[in-house]
Amino acid sequence: MPTDAAAKGVKLERYASGSALLLRRVASGKFVAASSHLLFRATVLATLALVFLFAFHYPSLLSRSFSLVSADASSSSGASRHTSHRSLLMSSASAASVYGGEKWEKEIRRSAKPRRDGGISVLVTGAAGFVGSHCSLALRARGDGVLGLDNFNTYYDPVLKRGRQRLLSDRGVVVLDADINDALLLEKLFEAVPFTHVLHLAAQAGVRYAMEAPQTYVASNVAGLVTVFETAAKHADPQPAIVWASSSSVYGLNTEAPFSEEHRTDRPASLYAATKKAGEAIAHSYNHIYGLSITGLRFFTVYGPWGRPDMAYFSFARSIVAGDPITLYADARRDFTYIDDVVKGCVGALDTAGRSTGSARTGKKTGPAPLRVYNLGNTSPVPVTRMVAILEKLLGKKANKRVVTMPSNGDVPFTHANVSHAAHDFGYRPTTSLDVGLRHFVDWFVEYYKLDTKIVKATRAADKKPATKKKAPAMSASS
Ligand SMILES: NC(=O)c1ccc[n+]([C@@H]2O[C@H](COP(=O)([O-])OP(=O)(O)OC[C@H]3O[C@@H](n4cnc5c(N)ncnc54)[C@H](O)[C@@H]3O)[C@@H](O)[C@H]2O)c1
Repeated sequence: MPTDAAAKGVKLERYASGSALLLRRVASGKFVAASSHLLFRATVLATLALVFLFAFHYPSLLSRSFSLVSADASSSSGASRHTSHRSLLMSSASAASVYGGEKWEKEIRRSAKPRRDGGISVLVTGAAGFVGSHCSLALRARGDGVLGLDNFNTYYDPVLKRGRQRLLSDRGVVVLDADINDALLLEKLFEAVPFTHVLHLAAQAGVRYAMEAPQTYVASNVAGLVTVFETAAKHADPQPAIVWASSSSVYGLNTEAPFSEEHRTDRPASLYAATKKAGEAIAHSYNHIYGLSITGLRFFTVYGPWGRPDMAYFSFARSIVAGDPITLYADARRDFTYIDDVVKGCVGALDTAGRSTGSARTGKKTGPAPLRVYNLGNTSPVPVTRMVAILEKLLGKKANKRVVTMPSNGDVPFTHANVSHAAHDFGYRPTTSLDVGLRHFVDWFVEYYKLDTKIVKATRAADKKPATKKKAPAMSASS
């Protein structure tokens, strides 16, 4: 047996003789061949490094499920809600491994079970969101079964989402903490509960945020939508009918008004709009191939109590109260639609949705399933400046306004819905004026943020007096 030292000596000798050999090659004009060998090795190493880096940054392409990852569940500030591209697409364990067992199945079946004859059983995605929570409450109130799902992301204050979850829980509706990209969990849900309908509202909303975090829109509004359709098509038996939220933003740069479902929708002004438009095309393919009954609802600027803090009416109310300046786009008009009207539209769409007809599992196909799309708007656009004037009156305080020309940041100059199809097919008739709807919103806002109601009431009663002389109601620490 050679000793270690002897072995090292042999290695050194080989190394020395190898170097000498190389020198001889250089000397003999073979340098080119040797360096191309080295170059080849370096290229292989660099390629491996690149593959590693790519897999590290885009694990979603390699893994089956991925989900949004909260940046900071305790804050709603712009900085904290801005989760990085990599963290948004980071693979995570399926909630299916967390949720399960006899007790859990019993609980979700109880939540999803209708309590009236002929009641429907609905899986509501985005149930802790603004529209999702209101729809879930309305369905529950009339005796339908509801199971909610939401990933409670930090795009805006998750405390508000938890508050909505508590409201639902008080009425016996379970909202699971889960992502719509979690195919394993969705499969488990469809296998455990015979849902008649899915009300799919989970999405990355907001037009301007798409410039900050484009991948979140792709993850939730495109990949997530596919996961919902895919599992409903292949793992639910019978397949449920699906009603999902598209958006008025699909009309983009359309100038014909009012917007009708027949108008062109191929000029989106934002990535958000483009993902909703993509969703409508994806819906067409799942309806065509798998016979899924799918109804897309194009909502127009929905507002009301428990609303979204990122939307203008809500953020303006906060700024007015706090005395902060607000920026308005000159000439912008919106077809503001009150939440109760939208809820009636969603329920009407669920009640009239035809059955899904094709099942990938059984191979049965009994004819074409419905594929529908409807506008749900208010049919009367209002200048954003008027919306601010109503808020000023209700809050008893003048806004510190800065009016600027609308930049090309995804917003469109106006929206205006024609709702004749929804009116014809399920009696949709919006009845709430902006004055009345904003009053309901401000009543909730004042209570939720524990503003000094005496001051707000006094300013309402005397709204002729200059509001600037009155003391501004303070935001509570919970805001
Ligand atoms: N509010 C409006 O004015 C309006 C207008 C047009 C369209 N829409 C659409 O209506 C739907 C509901 O909007 P909203 O105003 O209630 O918004 P919202 O943000 O309050 O509700 C969406 C909910 O979905 C959840 N969510 C997001 N991505 C998810 C994911 N990957 N998995 C699970 N949950 C996820 C969020 O946590 C949130 O609670 C959305 O699809 C939105 O794009 C809303």
